[in-house]
Amino acid sequence: MVCGSRPTSTYPSSVVVEAFAAEEALAEVLAGRVAARMGAGRPLTLGLPTGRTPLALYAALARMTRSHRIDWSAVRTFNLDEFVGLGAGDPHSYRTFMERHLFDHVAIPSRNVGFLDGRAVDPAVECARYERAIRAAGGLDLVLLGIGGNGHIGFNEPADALIAQTHATTLDEPTRAANAWWFGGNPAAVPHQALTMGVGTILSATEIVLMATGAAKIAPVRAMLQGPVTTRVPASLLQLHRNVRVMVDADVAAALA
Ligand code: PGA
Repeated sequence: MVCGSRPTSTYPSSVVVEAFAAEEALAEVLAGRVAARMGAGRPLTLGLPTGRTPLALYAALARMTRSHRIDWSAVRTFNLDEFVGLGAGDPHSYRTFMERHLFDHVAIPSRNVGFLDGRAVDPAVECARYERAIRAAGGLDLVLLGIGGNGHIGFNEPADALIAQTHATTLDEPTRAANAWWFGGNPAAVPHQALTMGVGTILSATEIVLMATGAAKIAPVRAMLQGPVTTRVPASLLQLHRNVRVMVDADVAAALA
């Protein structure tokens, strides 16, 4: 498979796969595309991921915002998920992750930034509020995703059945272990529960881009692209969407060839 910024293969579904030599190149191209969509203060509503995968993207977006004076005033964002019990000001919340890695570096109005509140007294009420807020914003134009080693998107873990809308969920042990780095390397500190957009919320976006880098993502990417649509691989539901792009590095690309 040739590495570059052009699509290298299209599977029988409409999912486009694009391969890059390294995650930095992937991040640079994706940041450029996202920044171009914001051009001249055009409205754009984004769904945003956390985790190690988007770190290079957010660094590139912050750099581009400085060098090209990108206007974030009409951008709205909704993060995919948050840990139950954590919220604003907590060093381990995903809200803090986003502030540290993106929002502290761009001039986005705070009222335009949407988060699930992991400290909400009633998670069901909070999840319903989030769905309403996304609808009131006119829906999601572009959702950016990572993929879990188990094939999850957001915190929609493999199961016999999935919940379409934003909901509270219990995290799989491998997911808690994969998040230990954000909790000082201590898996026991990772909450057992989270609030997450549902697969229906994600699939309601006009466009979806999933990033997958590193050898640990080979198996889930193969399953999502080359296996059947199954709730046991939540990312495989993306095969049902008409506008999905999967951006991978050379490690993942080699395994797809
Ligand atoms: P990661 O997580 O970027 O830290 O690998 C991705 C995910 O779980 O969606």
